[in-house]
Amino acid sequence: MASTASHFSLSLPTKQTASSTTPKLNTSSSNLHCFQSSKFLSPRYSIELNWKSVSESSVVQGRSLKVCANSAQIMDQFTTKADHGVPTTVDVDLGNRSYPIYIGSGLLYKPELLHRHVHGRRVLVVTNNTIAPLYLDKVVDSLTRGNPNISSVENVILPDGSVNFVALGGGVIGDMCGFAAAAFLRGVNFIQIPTTVMAQVDSSVGGKTWINHPLGKNLIGAFYQPQCVLIDTDTLNTLPDRELTSGFSEVIKHGLIRDAQFFEWQEKNMQALMARDPSALAYAIKRSCENKAEVVSLDEKERGLRATLNLGHTFGHAI
Ligand SMILES: NC(=O)c1ccc[n+]([C@@H]2O[C@H](COP(=O)([O-])OP(=O)(O)OC[C@H]3O[C@@H](n4cnc5c(N)ncnc54)[C@H](O)[C@@H]3O)[C@@H](O)[C@H]2O)c1
Repeated sequence: MASTASHFSLSLPTKQTASSTTPKLNTSSSNLHCFQSSKFLSPRYSIELNWKSVSESSVVQGRSLKVCANSAQIMDQFTTKADHGVPTTVDVDLGNRSYPIYIGSGLLYKPELLHRHVHGRRVLVVTNNTIAPLYLDKVVDSLTRGNPNISSVENVILPDGSVNFVALGGGVIGDMCGFAAAAFLRGVNFIQIPTTVMAQVDSSVGGKTWINHPLGKNLIGAFYQPQCVLIDTDTLNTLPDRELTSGFSEVIKHGLIRDAQFFEWQEKNMQALMARDPSALAYAIKRSCENKAEVVSLDEKERGLRATLNLGHTFGHAI
């Protein structure tokens, strides 16, 4: 069996090649005890990750035992009994993206292991309500004890088992939460409660859940439809004027691209909208959602028609 992955291949040799069961030590590099891995093949089969040479190393550095798993890790029967609190380290050798895997009992009580990898002052721990009572305090202690650099450790405790994500906010919250809902456990129940005009007339409807990347806007995301969208127009009472008018651009868009009658209504009722008249807002939101829902139902994945909803976005994003 062989993988065609460019970085490594996975192979299951049918024959055992070992001629001896005694590990051969190669002490040519300082402190490195490199075992010739072929000596440790299981009598029945082995899995080789062939990158460069076939080698596995174990390093004794002070009290910690270090296994360098470079491009050729062998699954073998050779085990090392480590002391409590003393990590065995497997280095994942990926050039400047290399990282260690610490393995051992009692490592949650070894703050120094985490400290060296935490950068900056703030930490967010995401866990669930089964694990939090068991380990959250220990992890927070491990992150902070003897580490004055950390100014805050926040946590998000998700319910164990089935979970619902509810986005309460504008389009930014809706898009981020929607993408998280699409990705978490390969997709969990998602509800939108939009609180800006933009989100109520546009972003909460249709299932686009995009986030930005330094290379471009909305490059990462998923089409992920919510279970429902709940729009309470009263939430617009606290919206800053600038955000209110910004959202009306999407209302106008719906009129321009496919609903001349609605556009005419807007011309007559813009003052009422700007004054946050509840009936005017409710009508504008309803009519916008009807238009968007119709387009989305005809072309959910934006193969053609849905692109008309992007009217003005190219200019808008550039500006
Ligand atoms: N998924 C889509 O189909 C889609 C469509 C259009 C826009 N978007 C995205 O939506 C985002 C813009 O959304 P937005 O215009 O809602 O901006 P936003 O989410 O940034 O919200 C604007 C500001 O208003 C605040 N706010 C939100 N609700 C409030 C309320 N009720 N009272 C007081 N303050 C409130 C927010 O905290 C924020 O500071 C962009 O990232 C855009 O890419 C997505």
